[in-house]
Amino acid sequence: MTVLVTGGAGYIGSHMVWELLDAGESVVVLDRLSTGFEWAVAPEAKLVVGDVADKELIGGIIRDNHVDAIIHFAGSVVVPESVADPLAYYENNTSKTRTLIETAVREGVPHFIFSSTAAVYGGAGLEPVREDARLAPESPYGLSKLMSEWMLRDASLAHDIRYTALRYFNVAGADPKGRTGQSTPGATHLIKVACETALGKRPFMQVFGTDYPTPDGTCMRDYIHVSDLAAAHRLALQRLRAGGRSLVANCGYSHGYSVLEVIESVRRAFGRDFEVKMGDRRPGDAAAVVANSDLARTELGWTPQRDDLDQIVADALAWERILTSKNSARG
Ligand code: UFG
Repeated sequence: MTVLVTGGAGYIGSHMVWELLDAGESVVVLDRLSTGFEWAVAPEAKLVVGDVADKELIGGIIRDNHVDAIIHFAGSVVVPESVADPLAYYENNTSKTRTLIETAVREGVPHFIFSSTAAVYGGAGLEPVREDARLAPESPYGLSKLMSEWMLRDASLAHDIRYTALRYFNVAGADPKGRTGQSTPGATHLIKVACETALGKRPFMQVFGTDYPTPDGTCMRDYIHVSDLAAAHRLALQRLRAGGRSLVANCGYSHGYSVLEVIESVRRAFGRDFEVKMGDRRPGDAAAVVANSDLARTELGWTPQRDDLDQIVADALAWERILTSKNSARG
């Protein structure tokens, strides 16, 4: 049995590949290397460069490798970009996922794990959000993922395929063994931006908004270590293989940190100060987005191992340093 990981050369996907290999699984990665990196794919995994909507290619991979599960990360993930170019997001995330599900059904792949997002909820309140909360995505990105969840639901009712959709909150950190991490140039994510600023890759960073209705006025998010997220997928795979029913579950730690708390943590990890400017609100940001993760804990048996902001930040900073030396070695 082999697991097909789409987007396995990307940030979360490359951690998933290591998680599966560490658990003794056989892994094939499909990635078109548009934002991922060949070097990010663990050498023990087989890498196929191609597109998830290429039915013949995927059909061949499934048959040749006896694929019994697809973990689907490939897609576009930048919220403002999805507002500027919605049709590209509906093509890349929704339409291509439809084709991949169709191929999975046609080839008889029984298990499908899908990378969904907290963006399906839209603006949440300070209270942890449950899976049965109102679904009101505020961006084409969120809607493109929600439509994929719904296609999976309908396909699983009509065909012999069961799925798990995991709704990620704010994924951060890097492999504690330093094998992979967030490597995308021009990233906008808070922890990555703060680490880049600490290391002098940016002259300063900004706090987007200090007048939110939160304890210190800055936005609160539920930051989850990427390795805990990968572990949740592995548990979802085990559960599906054991006959578990289809499931949609949040992946977060159920508590939030403010932007200022995150920056303080980066200062602690770095040991020195760096320039932070207080700025205006960024359009589209919700005051707080925090997961209720009871379902993942009970249904998947998921017990987070790295629920510690300082550890997430330390791993992210360590990876940022590794990335600096990788990039300077490449000239
Ligand atoms: N922030 C700053 N300065 C920065 C970068 C971010 O103050 O330089 C703030 C943002 O305003 C926000 C918080 O830090 O309040 C987190 O911002 P991120 O960009 O790191 O993450 P988001 O919460 O905006 O988005 C994340 C994922 C999306 C996903 C969304 C779902 O990156 O893919 O959560 O809620 F859609």
